Amino acid sequence: MTDRYAVIGNPVAHSKSPQIHAVFAELTLQDMTYEAILAPPDGFTQAVRTFMAAGGRGVNVTVPFKLDAYALAATRSPRAEAARAVNTLTFSPRGIHGDNTDGVGLIADLTRNLGLDLAGRRILLLGAGGAARGVLLPLLETKPAVLTLANRMAEKARALKAAFEPLADGCAIEGGGFAELAGRQFDVVINATSASLSDEAPLLPAGLYAADSLAYDMMYGKTTAFLVAARAQGAARLADGLGMLVEQAAESFFLWRGVRPDTVPVLELLRKS
Ligand code: ATR
Repeated sequence: MTDRYAVIGNPVAHSKSPQIHAVFAELTLQDMTYEAILAPPDGFTQAVRTFMAAGGRGVNVTVPFKLDAYALAATRSPRAEAARAVNTLTFSPRGIHGDNTDGVGLIADLTRNLGLDLAGRRILLLGAGGAARGVLLPLLETKPAVLTLANRMAEKARALKAAFEPLADGCAIEGGGFAELAGRQFDVVINATSASLSDEAPLLPAGLYAADSLAYDMMYGKTTAFLVAARAQGAARLADGLGMLVEQAAESFFLWRGVRPDTVPVLELLRKS
């Protein structure tokens, strides 16, 4: 019987996940379908239960349900625990298992697709919400020289720094407001704020971009205000989050099917469309 998977979100019509997983399934000869399910804001758990009862094997979870998915999971991976958010649920007779593939997706894009070696680099992560939290542990695991967390509300970045310091394993971790960044330089600047959603860019001091630096926006689909500002400030390279989207999907696919799809042709296909 064909195995069923889905992405649950609200909104979800714009999601590229069905297209991505369809190509993965084709490339790896997996007998499966992948659909998009729109759940009402208070209807996430019901949507999951209905899909499970209909024979679903697993789901991806997107905005605004990653915390609901975390709460629903009976067991969770360490990376989901650190993120306190779940983007991948797997159903089995043992129950619902939650994982978070966003962080490894980001790292895979930065290292494999963009060719960066993050060890010893100075990384600036902008934002202190769910998106930032989701990628923190995998970023620390790449052993940067320093991981600086900066947020519009400085207190939130300081709290996040304190929460992750025990997991930093020798890597320097800092947290504060944007103004405190004045005079500093970074090799990689990652925008994990939701500012791009409202066509805004975080208000950063000038001069943050070191020579050969990369500006990375976790949003995808357009040149965001953050990327425009980064170019004007001298960032050598710009990247949006499309590669992260494809790589997190590949990791979810691997969790469900035990097969790693080649992401390069999928990324090329999406870039063309
Ligand atoms: P997500 O799950 O996308 O991380 P979130 O948890 O609501 O969403 O967090 C949104 C993040 O984007 C926060 O860090 C927020 O900063 P504040 O904590 O100071 O509110 C940040 N953000 C949103 N709009 C922003 C803007 N225009 N400039 C800078 N930061 C912004």
